[in-house]
Amino acid sequence: MRLRKVPYAPTLISKHPSLVYTTPEERKGHWAAVFMNNSPIEVEVGCGKGQFIIEMSKRHPDKNFIGIEKYDSVVIRGLEKLLANPLDNAIFIQKDATDIDEFFVPAEISGLYLNFSDPWPKKRQAKRRLTHPNFLNKYKIILKNNASIKLKTDNFGFFEYSMMQFNSDNAFFVKEISMNYHGAKDNVPTEFEEKFVEMGKPIFYLHAVYHKENLI
Ligand SMILES: C[S@@+](CC[C@H](N)C(=O)[O-])C[C@H]1O[C@@H](n2cnc3c(N)ncnc32)[C@H](O)[C@@H]1O
Repeated sequence: MRLRKVPYAPTLISKHPSLVYTTPEERKGHWAAVFMNNSPIEVEVGCGKGQFIIEMSKRHPDKNFIGIEKYDSVVIRGLEKLLANPLDNAIFIQKDATDIDEFFVPAEISGLYLNFSDPWPKKRQAKRRLTHPNFLNKYKIILKNNASIKLKTDNFGFFEYSMMQFNSDNAFFVKEISMNYHGAKDNVPTEFEEKFVEMGKPIFYLHAVYHKENLI
């Protein structure tokens, strides 16, 4: 899908540094201070236009949510939603998540969401998949013990690949999978999910739990 450039995105983002963080490494270890509380922090990697993060924040005021999105022309839509309906417990990071372990100190994060991540189907692109072992190893650093990673996708190839990566890593336990996640209780649909559901496509779901002690 081609990205439509939003010319005013960099300027608007620069005007709201407390809602969209473009140098997250500077806040590493200090996100509780950013939210001004010690509630658990959950992160969506590749949050797109922010619908999921914002709805989760409304439904779970006892938690903090961070959406990471690499493109300013996309995250700007999340920022606009926050400006229209301010929330204390939702912010965005605009940066490629490849260096996610530079954004957070060890065990700073209580949960991770991978919603409709780009599948990068070609073999030579495998390292870009958000469930490539390079990413899983970084998630293991920033996640608290017993934290969950919840993944939803319409792409069976990416689902199968991700399941294999979690299964072959001792530190993760795949607690639940679903081959048809439509209408699951408490599900918060994302922008992409709504499109795929409308098209009648199945939604694949995986819930993995991180067990730090199994690393040893
Ligand atoms: C297919 S969209 C899904 C968006 C949203 N999660 C949803 O379900 O509607 C994937 C998004 O992830 C972002 N993305 C992909 N790889 C990323 C990375 N390494 N770091 C940050 N964002 C990334 C893309 O720019 C894109 O906006």
